[in-house]
Amino acid sequence: MIDSVALSPAFGVEFTGVTDALDDSFVHRCVEALKWRGVLLVRGLHLDDEQQLAFSRRMGEVVALGGQEIFPISINPEKSKTAKYLRGAFYWHLDGTSDDIPVKATTLTARQIAMTGGGTDFASTYAAYESLPEKERERYEGLRVVHSFEATQRLVTPDPTDEELAAWRTQPTHEVSLVWARRDGRRSLVTGATADHVVGMDPADSRALLDELLECATQERFRYTHDWRIGDLVVWDNTGVLHRALPYDENSERLLHRTTVVGDEAFA
Ligand code: OGA
Ligand code: MN
Repeated sequence: MIDSVALSPAFGVEFTGVTDALDDSFVHRCVEALKWRGVLLVRGLHLDDEQQLAFSRRMGEVVALGGQEIFPISINPEKSKTAKYLRGAFYWHLDGTSDDIPVKATTLTARQIAMTGGGTDFASTYAAYESLPEKERERYEGLRVVHSFEATQRLVTPDPTDEELAAWRTQPTHEVSLVWARRDGRRSLVTGATADHVVGMDPADSRALLDELLECATQERFRYTHDWRIGDLVVWDNTGVLHRALPYDENSERLLHRTTVVGDEAFA
């Protein structure tokens, strides 16, 4: 029998007793849970690439990243072509803020884990919005934020060379509403490391506002930290869940296999 238990009071759910990840009723539960709970966990499922892809396709259309439907997540350059840029994942972020329609769901399976550290932190931007006092909601309503690749990479490399800067700037920037009024009537925040500046605001004020908001959104009570064991499957709703990798040794074996499911709701 499949059972479920909350990962944290605000969001997240762990399923136990899963024997077939492709079972219709289980997939249906996952789709629903993803909407309302944001993060799903099944421990020790040990999906192979084909099974992970099949499961992901049941949730929607899978996109290939850099030509790979199964994308290796590693900061070891021997394991991933984008190892260098993946360091940006150590900062709270949403994936795909440069796209009009962000990724709906991301799945990760743990192939190898770090000896120490290397967990993944999640924080619900629905829960964060809901916790805001009315005055704060008014303050944020109507603000537009420009997201950029550069904003994240500056956190990783604060003093870039001209070449690095030029490379980052080949990536498109994207302006979206800070408060995202969703078509189901709920609201969430669009923030994270890619948030570069608030449109029309003094740069220092803008930075202070974005930092304060991110701190508020990622406070302990809106957070779930996943400590990986080999074979775990974690799925998250990338439209409403910030995430970050926790530090680990760069020579570590840690290797996660990832799939990305396309979204169907554009940012506001
Ligand atoms: C990602 C990501 C975090 C991690 O796959 O998009 O940010 O813990 N991963 O590796
Ligand atoms: Mn990410």
